[in-house]
Amino acid sequence: MRVEENKSLKNYNTFGIDCTARYFVSVESIEELKQALSEKNSKELFILGGGSNMLLTGDLDAFVIHINLKGIEILKETETEVFVKAMAGENWHAFVQYCIASDFGGLENLALIPGTVGAAPIQNIGAYGVELKDTFVSCNTVEVETLKEREFTKDECAFEYRNSIFKNEAKGKYIITSVTFRLTKKNHKTSVSYGDIQKVLNDKKIETPTIKDISEAVIAIRQSKLPDPKILGNSGSFFKNPVVDAETFQEFRRNFPEAPFYEVSPTEFKIPAGWLIEKAGFKGQRFGDAGVHKNQALVLVNYGKASGKQLWELAMEIQKKVKEMTGIFIEPEVNVF
Ligand code: EPU
Repeated sequence: MRVEENKSLKNYNTFGIDCTARYFVSVESIEELKQALSEKNSKELFILGGGSNMLLTGDLDAFVIHINLKGIEILKETETEVFVKAMAGENWHAFVQYCIASDFGGLENLALIPGTVGAAPIQNIGAYGVELKDTFVSCNTVEVETLKEREFTKDECAFEYRNSIFKNEAKGKYIITSVTFRLTKKNHKTSVSYGDIQKVLNDKKIETPTIKDISEAVIAIRQSKLPDPKILGNSGSFFKNPVVDAETFQEFRRNFPEAPFYEVSPTEFKIPAGWLIEKAGFKGQRFGDAGVHKNQALVLVNYGKASGKQLWELAMEIQKKVKEMTGIFIEPEVNVF
């Protein structure tokens, strides 16, 4: 374990922003993690996973710990189910691929999401009708202040749409070291109700899809809409899809009867932020090296040398215009530093 100083984070964030960390250490075991935490002293702590859900708007005057814990383990299994534990530093998509190759069902709709296993519970990652919480059993953590290990059960995590205890009361207090999933070994409960998936399967004339078929459909959809961060810097959805009350929704519907929406409950309606941003005229727009993706307006992109500040200014401009034009307030989904 070696503490580096003034380390460039360009290769550690998927926006490809060229900022530095005052102190940087990559840890490969829980012991190293504890050692790093005890060496940070009074310096501000910054935990880095895959860097795929954050926007850096300046250098980090902090002690950055890069979570590089690896390993996948089967904890127990029955005839029909398996409990799999993956360490926090495992690449999310590689883990999903491992599950599909082993014919473990439950994560196939979450294929190709950038980032690490350890970051996945923080915002309860979700795509194509499935969320992390659907297969999540528990996660292990280290408490920053005491270095004590603590397990969080699913209930304790208080998962919601793109939200959990780790973005609220527990924020900054615990470091996730591993996550345990409960997956199926047979009679997989596949979820193909999301329109785009069904369409890809129909086009391929697949009637009873395997989990591999579903993951391949998801990969094809994502590749057609979402830019690959290795080619074009981005952080996935920059904004959350807003959930509004019935009154706000009725007003919005009167002005935009053509807008897609999803009824969360009789009093809550989710409106796709991508649609709102497109309506506000930003889709495919480019301002210097900061831009809005041409196939999915929810994704901001870095064409090369955009600074975090430029991307943030663009995000705020979008937020303002969307509110002015549609009356709906959209909030960032990525963490901004
Ligand atoms: N839409 C537009 N214009 C756009 C983008 C979308 O009109 O530029 C419309 C679409 O036509 C569709 C609706 O908005 O009617 C929903 O679009 P899509 O299916 O692409 O999904 P989304 O709601 O925009 C969410 C997640 C994505 C996830 C997809 C698929 C959030 C913030 N984003 O996007 O997650 O992949 O659903 O499940 O919930 C991420 O979090 O980084 C991410 C990519």
